[in-house]
Amino acid sequence: MERWSGKVALVTGASEGIGAAIVKALVKHGVQVLGCARNLEKLKELGSSLEGPGSFRPVQCDVTKEDEILKMFEIARQEYRGLHILVNNAGLAHTGYLVESKTEDLREMMEVNVIGKSLLCLFVMHARNKTFVANPEFPLPKVQKIRCRLRRVGCGRAKRVFAPQ
Ligand SMILES: NC(=O)c1ccc[n+]([C@@H]2O[C@H](COP(=O)([O-])OP(=O)(O)OC[C@H]3O[C@@H](n4cnc5c(N)ncnc54)[C@H](OP(=O)(O)O)[C@@H]3O)[C@@H](O)[C@H]2O)c1
Repeated sequence: MERWSGKVALVTGASEGIGAAIVKALVKHGVQVLGCARNLEKLKELGSSLEGPGSFRPVQCDVTKEDEILKMFEIARQEYRGLHILVNNAGLAHTGYLVESKTEDLREMMEVNVIGKSLLCLFVMHARNKTFVANPEFPLPKVQKIRCRLRRVGCGRAKRVFAPQ
């Protein structure tokens, strides 16, 4: 974990469950974390329980809403000059038999688990390219390497994203 110390991570679905556990571990190991969820109060509660050399910045964001993701990325750009890690964790499950499912539950799962996760990947790629354009000194071979790595790992895992230097 030492190599991530001082880096900036965005954790979606940070207010509880796996996301909150990841936030705790990252802050403990010195990572600067932006954590998002819809419930800001829960994020703040989490923030006050954290221990370690890292930091935590709660951001209210629904990952199915592009305008809210855009605002969150603007915070990342202004306050941290970019991101190194995306933990694309926000998700939900309405469990049960398909025949008993409600249409709105199925739609919500698709919105959050498919559209939301895909939007985060898209925004990261877009933001990374903008950083590259804005910073001509960003070494091209590194960008190409990251691109290859992104293709290999897919969307669901932590990955290096747009880094200012
Ligand atoms: N737990 C498991 O056994 C398991 C198994 C396989 C996969 N997973 C996946 O692992 C991830 C985390 O699971 P978990 O068990 O930790 O879930 P969880 O305890 O229910 O937490 C889900 C998190 O996602 C957030 N979230 C939900 N909808 C959101 C939205 N539209 N925008 C932003 N944040 C949203 C929730 O916060 P708000 O409600 O405040 O927005 C919460 O912080 C999910 O993607 C889940 O599908 C979990």
